[in-house]
Amino acid sequence: MLDVVILAAGKGTRMCSNKPKVLHTIAGKPFLQHVVDRSRELDADNIHIVVGHGADSVRAEIGSENISYVQQTEQLGTGHAVKQALPQLQADSTVLILYGDVPLIKSETLKNLVSQVGEKSLGLLTVNLDNPSGYGRIIRDQDGSVVSIIEHKDANLEQQKVKEVNTGVMAVRSQDLQRWLPQLNNNNVQKEYLLPDIIAMAKAEGMSIETAQPAEESEVLGVNNRLQQAELERIYQVNMAKDLLAQGLTLLDPARFDCRGTLKVGKDCLVDINCVFEGDVTLGDNVKIGPNCHISDAVIGDDVEIKSHTVIENAQVGNNATVGPFARLRPQAELNEGAKIGNFVEIKKAVIGKGSKVSHLSYIGDAEIGSDVNIGAGTITCNYDGVNKFKTKISDGVFVGSNTALVAPINLGENVTVGAGSVVTVDVKDNDLAVARTRQRNISGWKRPVKK
Ligand code: UD1
Ligand code: CA
Repeated sequence: MLDVVILAAGKGTRMCSNKPKVLHTIAGKPFLQHVVDRSRELDADNIHIVVGHGADSVRAEIGSENISYVQQTEQLGTGHAVKQALPQLQADSTVLILYGDVPLIKSETLKNLVSQVGEKSLGLLTVNLDNPSGYGRIIRDQDGSVVSIIEHKDANLEQQKVKEVNTGVMAVRSQDLQRWLPQLNNNNVQKEYLLPDIIAMAKAEGMSIETAQPAEESEVLGVNNRLQQAELERIYQVNMAKDLLAQGLTLLDPARFDCRGTLKVGKDCLVDINCVFEGDVTLGDNVKIGPNCHISDAVIGDDVEIKSHTVIENAQVGNNATVGPFARLRPQAELNEGAKIGNFVEIKKAVIGKGSKVSHLSYIGDAEIGSDVNIGAGTITCNYDGVNKFKTKISDGVFVGSNTALVAPINLGENVTVGAGSVVTVDVKDNDLAVARTRQRNISGWKRPVKK
């Protein structure tokens, strides 16, 4: 049985923010949410979050699905924080202690740590740092067994030389915590109840302290300010980029790539520089994405080309389609196979049929367009009367001339032709031509005005 306790009561003064620190984000997701997600991967029975500063907003943002919150009204130290959770812990569980501002921890590292816990042992995650300044130092005896942790501020010069430091993350049996935490005192430089002091208590009882290390140092880095946040964001993104490269994606520059969600890629896809992916995005095989595209919650088929500066949100793009440059697919845009959306075209809640083209400067909203339709430059579906939205239906094989306004609700039958510059307000039957503009009048011998 596993209880996870996440410390998240701190204020985060150095973020210079009105928001509690743990709600600041990496890859668009709160630090604390990253930690909660990792805890869920461990199949924890319960996740307990110790909250203090901004407790209400933390609750509102992180939610309560299989999470219980513990209030720490005064921040009297990490030992005091964990103590607040004691009444909620199962009697015979292993307790894993995590930090809401250490977002890149990996579940493999945590699984390994939890496996160190036994009847006479606890697990402590440590790391060797070139510059250990500020961290609690791991003190070992001649045999190499851990005997205690000394906080930087309490350490003597000899102890300060130790490069192995406490990451703060540990796994301990619930019944041991119940015994040790009430014994903590605050006789130290910081006048705090220090969680690491339980290590010396464990040693005194003859228990062994089993240490484990993370695969990467970044897993245990905490965020205290915006600079560290930016640094962790880059680490996260580079790791994501490496994963995708390993899966066969061509990324023209892994340093200029951002994924704030999940990106699934097929074979032989290429992503040019400065693209941002959000939510769940799936690319088929042979998808090529030009520079500076922003794509969120989208399903893109095989052999699709998305040209530069395209924005796609909550849309579907069928096989062999091309989109952009400078196109915008809004929610519920659905392009069928071979469709072509060109520059400065906005599509919203509309189906574009197989092989149909909207190549330039158009707005298609609340529409259903059949196959092999050609929509001329500057065509607008007038879907809104200021109060209600109406639908435009365009059947297969229609040709709409440039600069046409289609005033919905409106239906164009199969193979209809619409003359350029028309304002179409009445349905058009199959194969008809609709021309809805004033006839041209030429005045011969016209004299231009002259300047007086
Ligand atoms: C802590 C460890 C130190 C370790 C370092 C690793 C202690 C006393 N020291 O130091 O050995 O090297 O982490 O980063 O544990 N918190 C609460 N309530 C409190 C106090 C803290 O929720 O009363 C939370 C903070 O919001 C923070 C975390 O616990 O997320 C760590 O507390 P902090 O005071 O930053 O400990 P460090 O000085 O970093
Ligand atoms: Ca800290």
